[in-house]
Amino acid sequence: MTTLWDPLREMAKLQGKIAVVTGGRKDLSEANSQLARSSGIGLEIVGFLARKGAKVYCTTRSENKAKRARDVLRAKYPEIDQEKIKWVLLDLSDLRSITDAADELKSNETKLDILSILQGATPLILQYAPNTIDSLVNNAAAATMSHSLVAGRWEWHMAVNFIGPFLFVNRVLPLLKNATNDSNSNPDVRIVTLSSIAHANMLPHNFEFHFDSPSCLANPVVSYPWQWRYIGRFIFGFDMIRYAASKAAVVMFAKGLQSRLDAGGLPILSLSVHPGEVATEGVMAINNVFIKTIARLTFLTSQQGAATPLFAATASKIKQNQNIYGGKFLTPYGKIQAPHPVVEDAQQLQGLWEHTTKEVNEQLMALGIPPLDRW
Ligand SMILES: NC(=O)c1ccc[n+]([C@@H]2O[C@H](COP(=O)([O-])OP(=O)(O)OC[C@H]3O[C@@H](n4cnc5c(N)ncnc54)[C@H](OP(=O)(O)O)[C@@H]3O)[C@@H](O)[C@H]2O)c1
Repeated sequence: MTTLWDPLREMAKLQGKIAVVTGGRKDLSEANSQLARSSGIGLEIVGFLARKGAKVYCTTRSENKAKRARDVLRAKYPEIDQEKIKWVLLDLSDLRSITDAADELKSNETKLDILSILQGATPLILQYAPNTIDSLVNNAAAATMSHSLVAGRWEWHMAVNFIGPFLFVNRVLPLLKNATNDSNSNPDVRIVTLSSIAHANMLPHNFEFHFDSPSCLANPVVSYPWQWRYIGRFIFGFDMIRYAASKAAVVMFAKGLQSRLDAGGLPILSLSVHPGEVATEGVMAINNVFIKTIARLTFLTSQQGAATPLFAATASKIKQNQNIYGGKFLTPYGKIQAPHPVVEDAQQLQGLWEHTTKEVNEQLMALGIPPLDRW
């Protein structure tokens, strides 16, 4: 693997650390598997963390996908102690699933035995400090042409890529806070959320964001740039503009979250990351032959794509320079990159946060689920 930051060489030992990675496996056709340079970035992140000794919770959308992901990891990295990897069901388009997944993470050893049964493995007793998580990597995301709504009210990309992680982070934050109080280790607690450089490259600087409007979650793209209308939609196999708008919201989330953590005096780092252009199964499945050909020839492998999220999640340089890295957007391999100007717009950020809080709480109440916790 040739990167400027090689995770296996550079990452410290992670024994005793507990991580959560969302979106462990893209489970597509054989044809796309063969075209792709490897499977999803999330599964590689899990593989690297586990090889360094961390205990990793990996989320998938079905038990079958968890089983297949486990088989892939076992075949690819036989040195991993499989008992270090736990599988949790999580559908980011479903607020109940998000709450259930977080509850599962927060539960005790008995509940963890249920996770072991899911793996088909013998129930095990945890060796780790209970009720803590050291790092959370929000990797999962959707890219689609579909204009359907989640919960009858939220645009699909906004729901899965931004609102889902917003709620999930809020739900597991107590575990991350616990990890900061772990007196046995030097706490180093991080939340890494995968965005994309597309939010800055594909949306013109004067793109009409309206995150300060109540309709921003239902209809985030009011007007498409001419580049998309005449060129882009013939090149990409998914709605790049809606995807990019949701990824702008992700960068704003990471920044807004850092401000709240800082205000609460919590030593937790929040960063957003572009992993590079990576030829994953997901990319191969959603694009046309033109992009597929470019991807096969020039894009990174998933292993290389895992490097920047892992840099954000583990590099000591970040911990040593928290004031520089906190809330920032990183590109390969660990470079701080200027995001779209909307990220620096305080009114847009405040609007996005307030509308999301209000709408998520309304939806949670309708489902009979407790509201968001204080950050
Ligand atoms: N690949 C690139 O070139 C590139 C570039 C920029 C940014 N990124 C970002 O990097 C991350 C990983 O990319 P990737 O190429 O590895 O993606 P991928 O192969 O498409 O995998 C995406 C993962 O997200 C999961 N997912 C999708 N919808 C979900 C939902 N509703 N609930 C829970 N999980 C869901 C998928 O699960 P299923 O298997 O169940 O569908 C899959 O595990 C994403 O955030 C992506 O936006 C990738």
